[in-house]
Amino acid sequence: MRILLVASAFNSLTQRVHAELRERHEIGVELALGDDLLRARVARFRPDLILAPMLTTAIPEDVWTGYPVFIVHPGPMGDRGPSSLDWAITEGASRWGVTVLQAVAEMDAGPIWASVEFDVPACGKSELYRNEVSDAAVSAVLTAVQRFESGAYVPQPLDYSRPDVTGRLRPFLTQQVRRIDWATADTATVLRTLRAADSQPGVLDELFGREYFIHGGHNEDRLRGEPGAVIATRDGAICRATVDGAVWLPQLRPRRRPGGPATFKQPATDALGADLPAGIAEVPVSPAEAAVRDTWSELRYREDAGVGYLEFAYPGGAMDTRQCRRLLTAYREACDRPVDVLVLGPERDFFSNGIHLNVIEAAEDPGAESWRNINAMNDLVEAILTTTDKLVIAALAGNAAAGGAMLALAADHVWCRESVVLNPHYRLMGLHGSEYWTYTLPQRVGAEVAEELTTRTLPVGARAAAGLGLVDKVIAGSTAQFRDRVRREAESLAAAPELQNMLLAKKQRRAADEAVRPLADYRAEELAHMHRNFFAAGESYPRLRHEFVTGVKPLATPAYLLG
Ligand code: COA
Repeated sequence: MRILLVASAFNSLTQRVHAELRERHEIGVELALGDDLLRARVARFRPDLILAPMLTTAIPEDVWTGYPVFIVHPGPMGDRGPSSLDWAITEGASRWGVTVLQAVAEMDAGPIWASVEFDVPACGKSELYRNEVSDAAVSAVLTAVQRFESGAYVPQPLDYSRPDVTGRLRPFLTQQVRRIDWATADTATVLRTLRAADSQPGVLDELFGREYFIHGGHNEDRLRGEPGAVIATRDGAICRATVDGAVWLPQLRPRRRPGGPATFKQPATDALGADLPAGIAEVPVSPAEAAVRDTWSELRYREDAGVGYLEFAYPGGAMDTRQCRRLLTAYREACDRPVDVLVLGPERDFFSNGIHLNVIEAAEDPGAESWRNINAMNDLVEAILTTTDKLVIAALAGNAAAGGAMLALAADHVWCRESVVLNPHYRLMGLHGSEYWTYTLPQRVGAEVAEELTTRTLPVGARAAAGLGLVDKVIAGSTAQFRDRVRREAESLAAAPELQNMLLAKKQRRAADEAVRPLADYRAEELAHMHRNFFAAGESYPRLRHEFVTGVKPLATPAYLLG
């Protein structure tokens, strides 16, 4: 069939649906940037079906009366309104769902083509969206498309008298409702409120006399203080006391002043700057200690059955200079441990999305900060590439893009959850890219495919990535099932009699590659391009970065999506 995907942004779910459906159908993508643009594209594309995986605006009536239009709604049957996931988390729902319904005049009230439910873990809204919601949405979309294609299925009208129609119409969740009263709210309430607003829109609050949106929140198990007081810092996050505990707040966004420039999220201590009173203690935690505590840390390290697990997790998958350096330190410490197999990657969600564009944008000299950041990233990648006495596995429970995808390729094995989407390219940010990709990518997929992946800039689903040799193993199931399988396979590698031979072969391969062309040479050439991207006049990177960080929408669907 010809299916036109209409979406407010080519976001993770839209990319995933795109990757799944294009295996069987002819797919077009149109960003919802205006009714007339949409009408024109529909007339040109002549779809059999229009599917909206993520839409924040309404489809014009003449389009949904002229064509079948399926809307993916992130709520169970009967749920309606613009803040579904926000309400689910605010109210502590343990089950939620995704429903594919047909567009009609009334928002989210059309006949139902498919609905899939899931258990809700304790996490932020966008993390939930990229994991459980995404998995359920893909499953519901595939069912709905198949039912539509069969021509025999009659969609179910929305009927609130049915026992399986559990949702209801809910209003937009305002900042007034989200407001945290630090003098009375307990930790559980604060965390639910913060998670319901993470990563957007954040919770509006006041700190040291200024207004900020708080993005993200995590429990702290030991530190205590006056409710509402900032009592500690750690790696750019601040810790704030509640009536019965404390929470870590990793990111803040200053409230935009009327007529002032757009603001964006930054590490909390960067956003507060000089407003952060002196004397608030930096309270570090080691990766090994963090692994056995209920506190916030970007890094956790644990060992089991001869395998070391170094987990890292960054909001939005973005890694600034300091984060890269801390991860490198933790990686080196892990390398000193008596284990033969090392597994790298977060428990859930983004593996990495490369250098931290927000921190760069906020820097006094963004070019210089870009340079520091890419060099810190390269140091990390180099350390992985030159580890010859251990087998290193990159375990991708979630998506990876740009330098973050190339970071994964530095490992000996790349294992991927089936629902992962990779974007192994830099061009959309106006960058040549580094992270030794000119060494690792062609080696994995060949020069021709490397060229195609980096210039066509389309997302690649996990199965297609495995077909290309970009990743080595694809594991189906939830993030918990993925972790379990990674653990079992890593342990069996660690116990394998041929492990020492594998390590020897790895050492020889690296030495042979180094003799053909030293790693330093790849780095120097990549960085020469990057230096131009960062500093030369007329380069698109500063503009593209600014637009990305401040959320500027394109005027029309970008050409690479038109096919
Ligand atoms: N720096 C800073 N923030 C980043 C980031 C980066 N490199 N990559 C992603 N983010 C942020 C996004 O701004 C977004 O923030 P929000 O939740 O406040 O809106 C969040 O992480 C999630 O990203 P989003 O774009 O919503 O997720 P997605 O899954 O739909 O798309 C990408 C993922 C990777 C395709 C897209 O985020 C992207 O193009 N990132 C930039 C990659 C890049 O060019 N890196 C630099 C070169 S190495």
